[in-house]
Amino acid sequence: VSSNRLYHEKVIDHYENPRNVGSFLKTEKNVGIGLVGAPACGDVMKLSIKVNEAGIIEDVRFKTFGCGSAIASSSYMTERVKGMTLEEAGKIKNTEIAQELSLPPVKLHCSMLAEDAIKAAIRDYDSKRKATGNMKAGHI
Ligand code: FES
Ligand code: FES
Repeated sequence: VSSNRLYHEKVIDHYENPRNVGSFLKTEKNVGIGLVGAPACGDVMKLSIKVNEAGIIEDVRFKTFGCGSAIASSSYMTERVKGMTLEEAGKIKNTEIAQELSLPPVKLHCSMLAEDAIKAAIRDYDSKRKATGNMKAGHI
């Protein structure tokens, strides 16, 4: 990538052809929703995960109100976590996303939104399960 290009082609691709746009209903069982914002810029990201009985993320959607890097980061995140266990997904670092998309330093917080969003979605899902007294071994 030449240094005079601010955006890597992968960012443009996710921006032009976002994967897995949308959201699941909060009321659906097996759904966890993470809604997070970046105080610095006011951008907002919502990530919805659908988790199967084995604790694997079988489907995922995003909605992002924000910059191209935030949209690309969330789109990339949806591709990345599909098929992962909650534990694996919870370990994804924003730096990996930034590296994959070749985000410039000023856009690091955009990838942080994606890390925050997946963590929030997992927390939401876990608290929902606890609330229904339906805990299963395999992930906490
Ligand atoms: Fe306006 Fe991120 S600050 S889109
Ligand atoms: Fe704030 Fe991208 S500029 S999320």
